[in-house]
Amino acid sequence: MAIDEELFKECLRRWTSGVTIVTSRSGDEIHGMTVSAFSSVSADPPLVLVCANRKSKTHAMIAESGIFNVHVLAEGQRELSNRFASTKLEGSRFDTVNYQMGRLGAPVIHGVLAVLECKLVSMHEEGSHTIYIGHVEHAETSDAAPLVYYQGAYRELSLS
Ligand SMILES: Cc1cc2nc3c(=O)[nH]c(=O)nc-3n(C[C@H](O)[C@H](O)[C@H](O)COP(=O)(O)O)c2cc1C
Repeated sequence: MAIDEELFKECLRRWTSGVTIVTSRSGDEIHGMTVSAFSSVSADPPLVLVCANRKSKTHAMIAESGIFNVHVLAEGQRELSNRFASTKLEGSRFDTVNYQMGRLGAPVIHGVLAVLECKLVSMHEEGSHTIYIGHVEHAETSDAAPLVYYQGAYRELSLS
């Protein structure tokens, strides 16, 4: 028996996560979306996963290209997160954003906390989403506090 959908959502709202932007590229087209369903899978080999709604454009692009970059957002990047979640800005998300093409060919956004450039190694369709597992080929970090997501709102971590 399935649990009540609202109860399910209430449980998940109580899970604290970071916020990422996942980018990809297919031919001349670049794209990306905000993703909180990100996790490490394995350290050796270095694997991570992102969970993408099958209706999203980013989902289709990752399946097609086999590459994706994960950007861990820093505090102060709420607007960037909203920008990459906005359907209104779907065609112009990169317009005001500093980025360059990464080593695997997908966009790397500047000024984030960490970037992981991934090659797709497997995908698992479950429910409305696909779990994409990527092998991390290149990575970089910077030092700042993270952007946090909890109870449907952005938070800042008080580092003590
Ligand atoms: C904080 C936050 C977290 C999100 N996490 C996810 C996620 O983990 N997976 C997902 O498919 N969509 C997630 N979304 C929704 C997508 O960012 C949104 O639907 C986006 O418009 C999809 O873009 P696209 O269809 O242009 O690829 C999240 C949105 C926000 C604001």
